[in-house]
Amino acid sequence: MPRKKPDITAKRVNRITPSGIRRFFDLVASMEGVISLGVGEPDFATPWHIREAAIYSLEKGYTMYTSNLGMPELRRELSRHLKDKYGLDYDPATELLITVGVSEGVDLATRAILDPGDEVIMADPGYVSYHSCVSLAGGKPVMVPTSEKENFELGAGDIEKRVTDKTKAILIGYPANPTGAVMSRDKLAKIAEVARRHGLMVISDEIYSSLVYGVEHTCAATLPKMKESTILLGGFSKAYAMTGWRIGYAAGSKDIIAAMFKIHQYTIMCAPTMGQVAAIEALKSGDDSVSEMVEDYNRRRLFMVKGLNKIGLPCFEPRGAFYAFPSIKATGLSSEEFAERLLMEEKVAVVPGSAFGECGEGYIRCCYATSLADIEEALARMGRFVKRCKG
Ligand SMILES: Cc1ncc(COP(=O)(O)O)c(C=O)c1O
Repeated sequence: MPRKKPDITAKRVNRITPSGIRRFFDLVASMEGVISLGVGEPDFATPWHIREAAIYSLEKGYTMYTSNLGMPELRRELSRHLKDKYGLDYDPATELLITVGVSEGVDLATRAILDPGDEVIMADPGYVSYHSCVSLAGGKPVMVPTSEKENFELGAGDIEKRVTDKTKAILIGYPANPTGAVMSRDKLAKIAEVARRHGLMVISDEIYSSLVYGVEHTCAATLPKMKESTILLGGFSKAYAMTGWRIGYAAGSKDIIAAMFKIHQYTIMCAPTMGQVAAIEALKSGDDSVSEMVEDYNRRRLFMVKGLNKIGLPCFEPRGAFYAFPSIKATGLSSEEFAERLLMEEKVAVVPGSAFGECGEGYIRCCYATSLADIEEALARMGRFVKRCKG
């Protein structure tokens, strides 16, 4: 008897649903005249001095692989940067790894620490990759509902209730995508206490750490006795407007970085060389450019939030990242229906909140990293749409 043909794709891959954001943006790409508040990336080009450093490196013929860990100069600069920013000491030789964005960092961190069935606790709504990376690594995402009433912050009590023998880590991503929420130091300290009490790792996605408006961001690794058990994932995409360069990093204990490095060296080899050169320049002299962009985002943030409230979409005040997360409950539509109809009827692209988890239902994500003129026009179109829905 011929044997039964095996499935061509693996079960753990089949279980993953494609990102709700991408599906939407394939549709947007096929339409004309759309104002996109959709994809979460800066509308700025990378600051010129950073691009210039990379161009110059190409002229000099720096086109080979780098050290698997990342260029030594980049790791040294990064170590200095993390000391300045967080007051933390990371050894560039053993405690830092240059990755292909925070995206690779999340994948490596989860694969490095999870055995089959291990659980990772995280916020709902949350960034789309967290859940899927944990599942692909053989782990089990355990979602903690968060709400606007509680500033979309993860609560230590809610986390502790979900700790089991299988719990391995808490994944924290603040400032948050999609809500723009920032976690207060006090609340984070309580979560750190839970992590310490139960011997859990903390994976801290710091991608938006520089994009905060009038509040302080706290990194879990800076809390007492947390450096060793925190995997700090950082990157250049958002703060330096460098999404296409694909550079990020992981900072952590020697053992954790060694484990992540094993996977990285066999699957990636090294992060792109040109991007690493650009990242060195960003760390050496990119601070002013970041501050200028943050000032600009802040203007757009205030304009967007005020505008959304005015057109009848009550909006939680985002204090970080570059997203507004207004409630659309008053329209009576689901977040998918809202986003789809808004796109078809008024040519404005937003992301349905449900793409980020069950608790995102009733909200939409609007990225304000786009020009004030576009935000103004988008708000006018959305205002018309909301009026029709409510009328
Ligand atoms: C919370 C969060 N983490 C990580 C990433 C991915 O960042 P990178 O470009 O460094 O891979 C994103 C991108 O949108 C994000 O929003």
